[in-house]
Amino acid sequence: MGKMNIGMVGMAVMGSNLALNMADHGFDVACYNYTPDLTEKVMKEHPHEHMHGFYGLQEFVDSLEKPRMIMFMIMAGSPVDYMLEKLLPILEPGDMVMDGGNSFFEDTRRRHELAAKYGVHFFGVGISGGEKGARLGPCIMPGGNREAYEYVRPVFEAIAAKAAGEPCCTYIGGDGAGHYVKMVHNGIEYADMQLIAESSLLMKYAGGMSNQQMSEAFYEWNQGELKSFLIGITADIFAERDDMGDGWLVDMIVDSAGQKGTGRWTSIQAMKQGVNTSMITAACNARVMSNLLEERAALGESLAAGLNTVDAGEDFLEDVRRSLYAGKIAAYAQGFALYRSAAEVYGWQLDFGRIAAIFRAGCIIQAEFLNKITEAYNRQPQLANLMLDEFFLGKIKENLASLRRVTAMAITLGIPVPALANAVQYIDSFRAGQLGANVIQAQRDYFGAHTFQRKDRAGSFHHQWQEHYKG
Ligand code: 6PG
Repeated sequence: MGKMNIGMVGMAVMGSNLALNMADHGFDVACYNYTPDLTEKVMKEHPHEHMHGFYGLQEFVDSLEKPRMIMFMIMAGSPVDYMLEKLLPILEPGDMVMDGGNSFFEDTRRRHELAAKYGVHFFGVGISGGEKGARLGPCIMPGGNREAYEYVRPVFEAIAAKAAGEPCCTYIGGDGAGHYVKMVHNGIEYADMQLIAESSLLMKYAGGMSNQQMSEAFYEWNQGELKSFLIGITADIFAERDDMGDGWLVDMIVDSAGQKGTGRWTSIQAMKQGVNTSMITAACNARVMSNLLEERAALGESLAAGLNTVDAGEDFLEDVRRSLYAGKIAAYAQGFALYRSAAEVYGWQLDFGRIAAIFRAGCIIQAEFLNKITEAYNRQPQLANLMLDEFFLGKIKENLASLRRVTAMAITLGIPVPALANAVQYIDSFRAGQLGANVIQAQRDYFGAHTFQRKDRAGSFHHQWQEHYKG
């Protein structure tokens, strides 16, 4: 047996699927798992001429051609530290360790520093597309040393999803850049999912539509400018019958959403960087609210009375579609604004157009309009906000009235639409000439002499504010 091209640590479903994908492309993959029985199981269940199981770490490392390339597909957090600490002393300078999990990018930066002490290149590799993507073609976001990337590039480009023949993989930037980009991808994913969920609430409770009609509407929307993986699966979801009873499966699922943390990380990180990602935050909070099942049941009854009704009207469904599209633009605008800020804060040379291009296939947020995002950044590589681009500005103008109408209707009817409402607020914050910040500056100066700037002259001013209403 010759030397293996690449090593995979972690034989759970993501790791074994990715290893199989590599093997299908002719790469000899050394497979290792912390508990050897899992490796044995995978070898038995998926025999492949290019996949070989190794049961000791040293034996696994020795099997690899140099410089060694080792990929982790293990749980984010302490398991990554544990494996890295085990491996570093037995690797050689120039070897590479790549973490393909959803690790927090600051952890990746720290591990990058640690590995560098051994001359080992540590890569944080964002991988999107779930189990199926891993097996058949994910979207890959590698971050680490630029030169070292060239070694693994042929493997990643071979196994990645393809969009218009191009691999959905590109070198992202130094140290934690790959994991950062994946984190924000997930933040956008949260907002996108929330927007779709809100649209379904509107269809059902304002439009009185049946699941079948909703499924058809999503299917229809998926043929046009809203075409995306998430809309496509939602069309399927509403068409699915309950396999354990009558009716529809989606209606039997408890109205309480889980989250593993990447959306929340995005939101916290955006706050730290001073970037408004209100729709991602709204989507996180919507999941938090969904978990309060008892409180919702208790307050639901006492707050339900007295809601108005409105006539959904003829154009209702088209209005919802347009709202969803406008909301989606705002969500991506927020996510990409965060990328732009991160490039400055962390000194990464992020290519925003390329990032949008690799999102076109393989990943969860793959969507038709990502081409338009790439085109926008081709027109202006340093575009401050997507909505400043002529195409997206045009689309916002075209759909804003619908977004406003639908959001107002939802509020009148008492249907919670936090992502849509935040989209309106985000757009209005750009649009409205005054945000009330002058009042805030006056208050800050009043109670804390924080000073303010004037419209008519340069400099900082403090005013001796008078108590006009004493006593
Ligand atoms: C992907 C997904 C993937 C995963 C998330 C879901 O890009 O393939 O984003 O990373 O499905 O972990 O996140 P939550 O469990 O937080 O919804």
